[in-house]
Amino acid sequence: MSVLKELRERCQGLSAGAVVDQALRAFGKEITISFSGAEDVLLIEYASQTGLPFSVMSLDTGRLHPETYRFFEKVESHYGIHIDYVFPRSEAVQALVREKGMFSFRSDGHSECCHIRKVEPLRRQLSTVRAWITGQRRDQSPTTRASLDVVELDAAFQGKGDGELVKINPLVGMSSEEVWNAIRAFEVPHNELHERGFVSIGCEPCTRPILPGQHEREGRWWWENEDHKECGLHIKPGGS
Ligand code: ADX
Ligand code: SF4
Repeated sequence: MSVLKELRERCQGLSAGAVVDQALRAFGKEITISFSGAEDVLLIEYASQTGLPFSVMSLDTGRLHPETYRFFEKVESHYGIHIDYVFPRSEAVQALVREKGMFSFRSDGHSECCHIRKVEPLRRQLSTVRAWITGQRRDQSPTTRASLDVVELDAAFQGKGDGELVKINPLVGMSSEEVWNAIRAFEVPHNELHERGFVSIGCEPCTRPILPGQHEREGRWWWENEDHKECGLHIKPGGS
């Protein structure tokens, strides 16, 4: 049986914390937790509760909020870990900014900048592992994330040696409220931006707080339409 199939079977009906445990056991050193600096910090809490070794990576786009950088430090000292920060290629950023300025995404869409600052660095990082753990949840986006699975074959990226890459989404079935209840219960540190109305947090120029009643994705790339609110990190098998 393939690792993917086996892990999928083993994770059926398990809690998010137990899924993280299974994933770390299945891949050992060849798995990374992808941490955005928001409420996906719960993944790190679950990983630390397993008592197993684990690694965490984060894409530093160069455009994150100062609060997010401070939060990274807090998480590192709380858990006694070092986050693997992955940076975009300087020549690519330089060419984009010289040609189109610092805010090109406002006029011609976020995909070019996201590709340079997030997708290419992630591709590079994922080529060193066989699996990654993300904090995606179905309730984050009714249009793009409603049919996510806990264990998937990554349709966008390849793993080590151009091999298959397994993507694990332990929080998939949790609501935002459940995630926040767990964060409070385990006294997990959080990004101070959450106290100022920010729910989904990405880069500073592309993230804003939301009003009561608004969906969390409305705080991301708000000048673009609903179906395009993905930056290319997450592509569903057979979909977008
Ligand atoms: S995004 O694609 O719109 O930016 P989102 O902010 O919802 O993603 O986060 C979903 C998951 O993608 C996070 O829980 C995390 O696993 C991964 N992710 C998003 N941004 C980053 C980042 N800058 N660094 C590492 N992982 C990230
Ligand atoms: Fe660029 Fe905005 Fe994408 Fe960040 S979220 S990489 S600033 S377009």
